[in-house]
Amino acid sequence: MYQNEIKKINPSYFDDKTESILSELEKTKENFWNLDRYCANFLNMLIKINASKNVLEIGTSNGYSGIWILKALEELNNGGHFTTVEFWEKRQSIARKNFSACSNLKPEPKIGSAIIVLEDLLDEINNKKREKFDFVFIDANKKEYIDYFKLVDKMLSDKGIILADNILSHYEKVENYVNELFSRKDYQSQIFDIGAGMMLSRKNN
Ligand SMILES: C[S@@+](CC[C@H](N)C(=O)[O-])C[C@H]1O[C@@H](n2cnc3c(N)ncnc32)[C@H](O)[C@@H]1O
Repeated sequence: MYQNEIKKINPSYFDDKTESILSELEKTKENFWNLDRYCANFLNMLIKINASKNVLEIGTSNGYSGIWILKALEELNNGGHFTTVEFWEKRQSIARKNFSACSNLKPEPKIGSAIIVLEDLLDEINNKKREKFDFVFIDANKKEYIDYFKLVDKMLSDKGIILADNILSHYEKVENYVNELFSRKDYQSQIFDIGAGMMLSRKNN
């Protein structure tokens, strides 16, 4: 018999300081549109399973998901680098504090409209000033997912991963993104019915 209602993850996986900050942030997750812990754990595990090195997040908010990303890179201990984009300075300043309280790794927070920041990052990659990303987490303006993808596709390494949130909660807004990914022979994708719905895509070459 299926026990669909049982959704368990380790209740306290990290050090006490990180756990206490995560628990505090979970009290206001509706105000900051954060992932739930179940999806954040999934994100953290995917980064580790993929042994990702350069991770990009589009939509920092107060840094809740970013903490889970940083902790994955910390555990991998592979010299990994975390870049995260947010247009709301006040939110990202909270995120920066949360990051430094939870991890010794130095993330790269970028303030600005995602498309402009992505174009700059792509320029840097094309000019060999930056390595390609091997993991991208998309969680900003739902209507822009398709535009993020057009840029992310060019900056994603072979076998790179894209995880996008709010696929089921905002399907009308992200439908063109979903259709594009499913139409692409160079990506394998699947939608997971967890949290607000997450689409996982892997670049095949
Ligand atoms: C769903 S929240 C991100 C939540 C975060 N990933 C977490 O789980 O903790 C989306 C964030 O993206 C930001 N955002 C929305 N549109 C954006 C855009 N076009 N450029 C940059 N940031 C944007 C919002 O200000 C908001 O803080």
